[in-house]
Amino acid sequence: MSNRMWGGRFASGPAEIMEEINASIGFDKRLAPQDIRGSLAHVAMLGKAGILPAEDVAAIEEGLKAVRGEIEAGQFTFRRDLEDIHMSVESRLREIVGPTAGRLHTARSRNDQVATDMRLWVRDTLDDLDAQAADLQRALAETALAHAGTVMPGFTHLQSAQPVTFGHHLLAYVEMLARDRGRFRDARARLNECPLGAAALAGTSFPIDRHATAAALGFDRPTANSLDSVADRDFALEALSAAAIAAVHLSRFAEEIVVWTSAQFGFVKLSDRFTTGSSIMPQKRNPDAAELVRAKSGRVIGALSALLIVMKGLPLAYSKDMQEDKEGTFDALQTLSLCLAAMAGMVRDLEPVPEVLKAAAGSGYATATDLADWLVRELGLPFRDAHHVTGRLVGAASARGIGLEALSLDEMRAEEPRITAAIYDVLGVENSVGSRTSYGGTAPANVRAQAERWLGLLGQA
Ligand code: ARG
Repeated sequence: MSNRMWGGRFASGPAEIMEEINASIGFDKRLAPQDIRGSLAHVAMLGKAGILPAEDVAAIEEGLKAVRGEIEAGQFTFRRDLEDIHMSVESRLREIVGPTAGRLHTARSRNDQVATDMRLWVRDTLDDLDAQAADLQRALAETALAHAGTVMPGFTHLQSAQPVTFGHHLLAYVEMLARDRGRFRDARARLNECPLGAAALAGTSFPIDRHATAAALGFDRPTANSLDSVADRDFALEALSAAAIAAVHLSRFAEEIVVWTSAQFGFVKLSDRFTTGSSIMPQKRNPDAAELVRAKSGRVIGALSALLIVMKGLPLAYSKDMQEDKEGTFDALQTLSLCLAAMAGMVRDLEPVPEVLKAAAGSGYATATDLADWLVRELGLPFRDAHHVTGRLVGAASARGIGLEALSLDEMRAEEPRITAAIYDVLGVENSVGSRTSYGGTAPANVRAQAERWLGLLGQA
């Protein structure tokens, strides 16, 4: 049998494999709530504009609500031969209210319908991601406050660089997440225009009120160009870009958790709740959740690339290629949601090991810069000369396999005769972090103030 929605000019139905490649119902059924919301807004507008009589509007509204009830109750049968969510809902509506159902599609096409549905879904999901990212920020800021003064090594090139505090390190991710949230909100603001009423591509001859449907669906305004309305998916691309960047942030932190929990680092302990064992090696505590967060960023980045590639060669307006926007967008944004939740859980259960962190912070001549700064401050050496003197002292200590603080005053004076015993005060890691009071620096007082500022901004969950 040919399709009831568009089969008028067809003598036969589609080949089995045509139906399989064409159907999107397997994945777009999740748009049912958005689809029905859009239809309710559309039919109400058709009534107000005098395009449909009130009794038809009432019947359709009641029918749509019945369909929604069935879907919510899990009593709806999704059929592949009905292609997609739009035709599935309309077909069931027809079963419930009869031929009047056919009036719903007046002044509308699946092209503007699907663009509207997707915008609604992405918008809701961006709001959820924003709230989840805020929760992760809260977990990080709380832990940062508790460890504002816990000294750890700061790295560049993964080589010991300068001591920092654990709280400072966590607050770096709070800042990244703040920018991620800004990108979610920017994407939301730009996508919040309603394509409904653009119809297939050219608009419609019916006297519809696009401002009314836009307002009813919580959009700021209708989209201004009917071709653009149905032809672009940049709103999904923008959400995916923001998601990919956020996923990369999470992946970097996940990588650090993997490294830090290794026996060789031993910087932090992850709870039993976020580790797994090995079936053969009884000693193992594997950071699987962190590894998966690290890996899943690949899916999010992949979805962005895939959709960019789908879109890049499409002439205006709609092409069926655009149906491929869905699976990747759904999967990527949900993946990010899962990663944000897992990271928040891990952070709340994370236990830094202060002794190990402090010992590691002092290794690798991490306070050499403090020594050089002392030479500049106390002796008036130009920084480049101070750097050179310090480098020679590090060389001398390293040749003997000892720390800078273990060099005698005489050994120091062999390089710079004006050095006094006061220099030993700056070689401790606590002193080092305490001195980094420049704005944004790692001094515990700064870290405490920043953590408190964030907790104030974030409020309670
Ligand atoms: N399932 C389709 C999609 O997701 C709906 C739009 C179909 N439009 C069309 N002209 N065939 O893109």
